[in-house]
Amino acid sequence: MGLFSKDIETMDDLFVHTLRDIYYAEKRILKALPKMIDKASHPSLKNAFTTHLAETETHVIRLEEVFRMHGADAKTVTCPAIDGIIDEAEEISSEVADQEVLDAALAAAAQAVEHYEMTRYGTLVAWAKRLGRADCARVLEKTLAEEKAADQALTELAEAKLNIRAAE
Ligand SMILES: [Fe+2]
Ligand SMILES: [Fe+2]
Repeated sequence: MGLFSKDIETMDDLFVHTLRDIYYAEKRILKALPKMIDKASHPSLKNAFTTHLAETETHVIRLEEVFRMHGADAKTVTCPAIDGIIDEAEEISSEVADQEVLDAALAAAAQAVEHYEMTRYGTLVAWAKRLGRADCARVLEKTLAEEKAADQALTELAEAKLNIRAAE
């Protein structure tokens, strides 16, 4: 922010900043997923993305709940990491001609997103506990579990179907 001041002084500031980072990321993912659903051709992949779109809507609501519980404004801060992951996903998917290969690429790109979310929520859960906010940690843990499950479902789908078809 200012030249002579720093925004983040305390662990609590850092916690709120990171909540705003993932809040931005979830909103960006919310816009990216419908495009990925359109591009996917395997019905199981379309389903996985559609299910996770609904979950992602809940993730946004849960973050708003945590902001409220913690008495912080629900604001976003730009997260260049998720911008980069999604830009790369959109770039690669516009470059793949073969539909089966595209499905494998889309699943992999989505897993990069899930892993980003898992690292952020894992950190937020640990920090919430350290800051004496077990209540916030419990809410964030629900989302973390869904990110892990989404990632696991994509691994299984890719290994059982998508990668095999893509490599044929
Ligand atoms: Fe999420
Ligand atoms: Fe996710």
